[in-house]
Amino acid sequence: MRVIAIANQKGGCGKTTTATNLAAALALNAKRVLLLDNDPQGHATLAFGFRERDFSLSTYDLYLTSDILVQDAFLEAGENLHLVPAGVELAAVEQALARETEKERRLQDKLRRSSLPYDYVLIDCPPAVSLLTFNALLACGEVIIPVDPSVFSLQAARKMHETLAVLREQRGHDVVPRVLMSDYDTRPRFVRTLMAELDAQYEAELLDTIVHHTVRFREAAGAGVPVVRLDPESRGAVDFRCLAREVIAEEVDVTVTAVDHWVALLHGPRPTGTGVRFEADFPRAKAVRITGTFCDWSAKGLPLARRDDGIWECHLALEPGRHEYRFIVDGAWLPDPHNTESAPNEFGGVNSLCVVG
Ligand SMILES: Nc1ncnc2c1ncn2[C@@H]1O[C@H](COP(=O)(O)OP(=O)(O)OP(=O)(O)O)[C@@H](O)[C@H]1O
Ligand SMILES: [Mg+2]
Repeated sequence: MRVIAIANQKGGCGKTTTATNLAAALALNAKRVLLLDNDPQGHATLAFGFRERDFSLSTYDLYLTSDILVQDAFLEAGENLHLVPAGVELAAVEQALARETEKERRLQDKLRRSSLPYDYVLIDCPPAVSLLTFNALLACGEVIIPVDPSVFSLQAARKMHETLAVLREQRGHDVVPRVLMSDYDTRPRFVRTLMAELDAQYEAELLDTIVHHTVRFREAAGAGVPVVRLDPESRGAVDFRCLAREVIAEEVDVTVTAVDHWVALLHGPRPTGTGVRFEADFPRAKAVRITGTFCDWSAKGLPLARRDDGIWECHLALEPGRHEYRFIVDGAWLPDPHNTESAPNEFGGVNSLCVVG
């Protein structure tokens, strides 16, 4: 499962358009998607035609009521697509949590405790670096930063990178950023100049897909239907189908290594006398960590190092006994594809199991 926040503190740069249309396009690709509206404006909720009278539980309740989990609060927003709606009450979260400790980890904690049978969780953020945005950034492994053609948007993208650096340094939380050129119009020269600047500054992070300017997005928002459903042949729909394909292409290819038995036997956990060596073959990953019972399922986990042959490894001094663990591969929590020993977990999935004698 990949958790992707859509964030940029600049208002109106295309966050909700991206979150809603990417969610719908991923769902059309048979991916199971949860879209979490994390903005008191509730635009992602409106974009799927829901009004406040259509729901009684919302993102607000995920933040403030411990017992309410994602499975209690979602609405069906089409095939393969669930939506946790939001309304104006979400604006009260900041004040309600003012005196609480660990208030930036509410959403992360809620996602960890909820049953999430999804391939993707997308989080639509408000136009501010607020408590709501911090919660989304700590809950996600990746962030898509839409940038519309304005210097303010570019400046806000820089601020977002600074925020990510703070999260890395102060919270040990790594988020993989991607920059998306949105609302792109090829005609004005300054737009092309800005695009070149974006390309130079964020070369590695810039998504190949460009979302072009088209009036269909406004029409679709008014109709309460994403463009990819309202007008599948339109330019906007084509752009988001491309974006969905690009995002899917970055999925870590774990199934291949998981079914390839000899590869599975080559790596996996091995006792060393002083602990256990963990090895995993994630050739396309940018960062791999391990978390489990031995570190109280820390969301940060412990880092694996990448060898020259592309295998990730680490050595842990584990006590004798049963240890359950998962890898965190570019933010996605995955069982060890090289280890056939596993134990069911409370989320309906499995954790990998390592028994130290
Ligand atoms: N590619 C596009 N072409 C034309 N209009 C667009 C495009 N992308 C977004 N818009 C329009 O611009 C407005 C703002 O877009 P959107 O709501 O997605 O931005 P946002 O970043 O979520 O805003 P906020 O910061 O208020 O949450 C909307 O009316 C939307 O329909
Ligand atoms: Mg929005």
